[in-house]
Amino acid sequence: MSAKIIDGKIIAADLRARVADEVTRVKRDHGLTPGLAVVLVGNDPASEVYVRNKAKQTEAAGMASFEHKLAADTPQADLLALIAKLNADASVHGILVQLPLPKGLDTQTVINAINPAKDVDGLHPINAGRLANGLPALTPCTPLGCIILAKTVHASLEGMNAVIIGRSNLVGRPLVQLLLNENATVTIAHSRTRDLAAICKNADLLLAAVGKPEMVKADWIKRGATVIDVGINRSPGADGKNKLVGDVAYEEALGVAGAITPVPGGVGQMTVACLLVNTLRAACAIKG
Ligand code: GUN
Repeated sequence: MSAKIIDGKIIAADLRARVADEVTRVKRDHGLTPGLAVVLVGNDPASEVYVRNKAKQTEAAGMASFEHKLAADTPQADLLALIAKLNADASVHGILVQLPLPKGLDTQTVINAINPAKDVDGLHPINAGRLANGLPALTPCTPLGCIILAKTVHASLEGMNAVIIGRSNLVGRPLVQLLLNENATVTIAHSRTRDLAAICKNADLLLAAVGKPEMVKADWIKRGATVIDVGINRSPGADGKNKLVGDVAYEEALGVAGAITPVPGGVGQMTVACLLVNTLRAACAIKG
């Protein structure tokens, strides 16, 4: 039997529509237009596409979008000054600095400069710490999207054996906390994990966030498991042209998994939708 395909496109479109409805309501009832500022430093082509997409979706949801493009050689002091200005700007409720930053800029210093109440990426240590302590927090968008996708398959994740591959601040680490909040049993695996295949094979819910094209093979997957593929990798296809593939060998995984997210059309769609959710939440919390 072939796995159920978890359609991130449809699920994200539904979430964006719900955010747009709520934006209409807060505009009408509270005169509040949520605003998102996205800062892009340098001209990494993939980041440019992501940032353009974020701005487009923000506007489509009825929110204000503020784009700030800075040269790759922007001094850190100038970037910090822009963040201070955005922190003080009452029309800006969310601030996202697109990562990775060019060499010469210290990512953690930049993240630390963002007002935690406007940190819609959920990367500020205050938000990461609150999440780790089970307190309400702005939460990284990609992990939030993964949980929403998993819950379209399982009404409850309670007691499930969840295995995450990858321990990044953006995905793996916050996923641990979100899955714990759902009462899943969580294992986090990474590049130094021994016998990775055997650990994955034990997962009812397998989340791959390593950035290695098609690393997770069909024989790593427990029959019937739900597989959430966070990877977006460019890899040469049979025709020699680059195509987008996930961290999971999708075609062969289809024959083993119970449900699986495609790449593209899975988790990637959810990241921007969850960014809109976070911006709306930040705007409502700041307004009080
Ligand atoms: N680059 C890739 N994904 C993300 C994300 O979720 N947030 C930011 N700020 N940069 C990214």
